[in-house]
Amino acid sequence: MAATIYYFTGTGNSLYVAKKLGEKMDNSKLISIAIAIQQNDIELSETAGIVCPIYMHNIPLIVVDFIKKLKQPNYFFIVFAGGGELGGCLNETKKLCDSQQLELSSLFNIKMPSNYTPYGCPSESEQQKDFNDANAKIDEIAQVINSQEKVIEKNNTGFIRTYIHPGLLYKLGYKYINVMDKSYLADENCNGCAICQKVCPVNNITIEAGKPVWHSHCQQCYACLQWCPKEAIQFGDKTIGIQRYHNPFVKVNEIIKSTK
Ligand SMILES: Cc1cc2nc3c(=O)[nH]c(=O)nc-3n(C[C@H](O)[C@H](O)[C@H](O)COP(=O)(O)O)c2cc1C
Ligand code: SF4
Ligand code: SF4
Repeated sequence: MAATIYYFTGTGNSLYVAKKLGEKMDNSKLISIAIAIQQNDIELSETAGIVCPIYMHNIPLIVVDFIKKLKQPNYFFIVFAGGGELGGCLNETKKLCDSQQLELSSLFNIKMPSNYTPYGCPSESEQQKDFNDANAKIDEIAQVINSQEKVIEKNNTGFIRTYIHPGLLYKLGYKYINVMDKSYLADENCNGCAICQKVCPVNNITIEAGKPVWHSHCQQCYACLQWCPKEAIQFGDKTIGIQRYHNPFVKVNEIIKSTK
């Protein structure tokens, strides 16, 4: 069985999951969604799936665009490698697949360490627990996919965090994700190294006069903020003094290679 695993990642968690999943599946290939979308080149195998984060209880915008370009594989799966709360993702994925006449075979949720810095950085022991649990869950998911079973995971959030909270977030935040980069700034610690530009999956950053400039087609993946070696990027005043997070098993070069 040939399988293609498409992934979108900012801070490495989804790449971590995609790589581990790929190791457990026969004849699998990993493809970056950021690159596939730029090249408008979407090859499909009989089994194909997506691994991606969750943003604001929803599917990352670039992944929505990608799903709209997908043709139906024999077996189609999605793995959310977010901070653990499916929220509105289950309903939104079903709605999107219905509108595209795509049959979703399986949907899974893996809790990874949260990269949403305004809420703080997960401690090392919290991260370790997440990785241990994630590794066990990846084994289970690989078995399901290899045997072509169909499993749609149940939502793990209550009514308010599945309907009310996402409903508000979609109106007040999610719709405006692209332009939320107006809150980013590089402080006096910036040394002009351009790593932020290189890790951006959508070429939303240029370096001008030695500092990053954002261009309003942001995905809110937090790659720039989290991979900056000087911790110089702030999101307004919400990230000042908070420890940064990126997946400790993924190297910055792997992220750069996933972007272009
Ligand atoms: C702007 C933003 C919003 C987020 N919203 C959610 C959310 O609603 N639910 C959730 O479970 N995780 C949320 N997260 C956490 C990420 O989905 C999670 O850390 C994910 O594993 C990051 O994946 P990556 O390392 O592949 O980029 C959010 C992260 C960011 C940066
Ligand atoms: S990665 Fe950080 S230090 Fe390097 S240019 Fe960007 S903001 Fe400046
Ligand atoms: S500007 Fe930063 S947060 Fe926005 S898409 Fe690029 S790397 Fe991600």
